[in-house]
Amino acid sequence: MLETKMFKTATTDLAAAAELIKKGQVVAFPTETVYGLGADATKESAVKKVFAAKNRPSDNPLIVTVANVEMVKRFVSEIPVIAQKLIANFWPGSLTIIMRYDEGALSPVVTGGLPTVAFRLPASDVTREFIALADTPIVGPSANTSGKPSPTTAQHVWHDLQGKIAGIIDDGAARVGVESTVIDITTATPTILRPGAVTQEALEAVIGEVNSEHRKVGIDETPKAPGMKYRHYAPDVPVYMVQSDKWEAAIIWAQQQLEPVGIMAPDAVIEANHLAGMDFVWSLGNDVTTASAKLFAGLRYFDDRDNIETILVHRFADQGVGRAYNNRLGKAASDQYFDVDM
Ligand code: TXA
Ligand code: MG
Repeated sequence: MLETKMFKTATTDLAAAAELIKKGQVVAFPTETVYGLGADATKESAVKKVFAAKNRPSDNPLIVTVANVEMVKRFVSEIPVIAQKLIANFWPGSLTIIMRYDEGALSPVVTGGLPTVAFRLPASDVTREFIALADTPIVGPSANTSGKPSPTTAQHVWHDLQGKIAGIIDDGAARVGVESTVIDITTATPTILRPGAVTQEALEAVIGEVNSEHRKVGIDETPKAPGMKYRHYAPDVPVYMVQSDKWEAAIIWAQQQLEPVGIMAPDAVIEANHLAGMDFVWSLGNDVTTASAKLFAGLRYFDDRDNIETILVHRFADQGVGRAYNNRLGKAASDQYFDVDM
């Protein structure tokens, strides 16, 4: 067991945490999307500790998180024009860009042996200050145990990884709440491998046509984003998606069950059904942006309670950020919808 130190976001704290990174240790860090698990991306022994702490399958490559574009240039001699446009418009921000790399040494442990690397320059000032102090790009998978919902607070990280990592930097609740959009620009038409807060519409406005490939991938297929073949974001109890017009029936069904049912719904639904303040109710706020920020925390809240046997969660319209929200919810729910006959 390691003693997991908690850090705040003052520069002295970030410098102490960065010192641990320089020593080859693993430190969880905040970003605006979700908390990440940091280690020096150029040190194979450090990167291996990240896989061990998360219990992550070794064929799933890691994002390389940078503090500035100079850090990307350590690995990519010439940044392609499409990437330059994306960088100019969306960095710092919640967009991960997959490029070919041809410079420097990145361990196959980081890239999963692929000729490409996923780079991310987060919007959070704290993240960038921390990486700049460590003076090296850091790998940054989400800081959860593999298969669990990504952490949106330092407490979520503590719950999953305390005793397994050297430190956690606490910056409160993550603003976005779902992981970054991942775009692969090495294909003829750039392809979204994972939807996020940077929407397909926003990307197309800058670089023209973009494909999206974040469908479900079978366990025996070779997926474009290797992470997509694993069951993700999943609590231990069944989760069902509820369409807007099914809430009334869903709440009647919930009240007929022997064990309490967890309900994650927009405030309008909670108020219309007189459920405000009930301890089996988790508010998703009133729009999909707020709901995205609260989704993973709600799934974890109910997952940690031993008397909840089922979770019902609101499904939003499949557009804009709704695509990212529905994508993560769909994985947690194995794409199952609530139905009166179930
Ligand atoms: O918002 C985020 O992106 C968070 C924060 C902490 O930065 N990080 C994150 O990392 O979500 P992770 O490792 O949980 O998800 C990265 C995804 C995985 O599905 C992985 O398979 C894919 O990106 N990926 C990484 N490198 C890749 C590559 N070279 N080619 C294709 N997919 C790649
Ligand atoms: Mg993850």
